[in-house]
Amino acid sequence: MSLNTDKFLESALSVAKQAGELIRSQFNNRNKTITTKECDIDLVTETDKAVEELIINSLSKEFPDHRFIGEETTADGKKVELTEVPTWIIDPIDGTLNFVHSFPHSCISLALFINKEPSIAIVYNPMLEQLFTAQKGVGAFYNNKEMKVSGKQNLSEALIMYEVGTFRNAERKKVTLKNIDTLVDIAHGLRSTGSAALNMAMVALGAADAYFEFGIHVWDIAAGELLVTEAGGVIMDPSGGPIDRLSRRVLVASSKELGQQLSAKLSQFYPTPVD
Ligand code: IPD
Ligand code: CA
Repeated sequence: MSLNTDKFLESALSVAKQAGELIRSQFNNRNKTITTKECDIDLVTETDKAVEELIINSLSKEFPDHRFIGEETTADGKKVELTEVPTWIIDPIDGTLNFVHSFPHSCISLALFINKEPSIAIVYNPMLEQLFTAQKGVGAFYNNKEMKVSGKQNLSEALIMYEVGTFRNAERKKVTLKNIDTLVDIAHGLRSTGSAALNMAMVALGAADAYFEFGIHVWDIAAGELLVTEAGGVIMDPSGGPIDRLSRRVLVASSKELGQQLSAKLSQFYPTPVD
């Protein structure tokens, strides 16, 4: 019997909308309070922290037995543990660098994992009123309308999303530039929103055909995974093997064929895992 997750989605949507108001109210503030994390371009604002606090306070009152993994409440270098217990995985603002610059492509990314698998997902960009939702076994939706991946199979016809990421590392930069160099010659085009969650939402929507990144964290991709798979796409490790959500590597695609063609062309980078 499949689990009814309507109540979880309803509660998550309600708090995501409140969080969206908070983000919108600060979006045009040119004097945001900013601190840095792992490096000088890995930023966090007071709004990131306030949004995460709002979401955890609200959902923990409603679901006292649930656990939480949040970007801003996970101490740097702390091991992230995902157990069978229902766990909310939260990125309060994915695309913080965009938010800092008032570039309107940031979102709240919120997913509930049960038995280590995603059961509901929300990616919400309050600046552009883009709401992406998914429920396991029910489907994926963009502003309440069902969405499907493009189904594209050939890399030569594909629009590929990638990111240069928000950390400074010479080896990773080399690999990123090499991959851009390779793909410019063989894909239709390359795009980047500055938010892992929104990149995945674009693949789910069928607006882009694949996305890969080395260096992301589980909160960047937790909701995007269910959007893509419920829209008919696939998630895998960029090497073509099964996804390890804590490995800081991801590839999603509109079809298995495309995912494998892309992975075969990629130079690989293995970031230090959180554990
Ligand atoms: C970042 C964004 C960015 C990606 C980085 C992430 P943040 O998340 O998703 O697109 O390239 O790897 O860390 O820091 O804006 O929440
Ligand atoms: Ca993020």
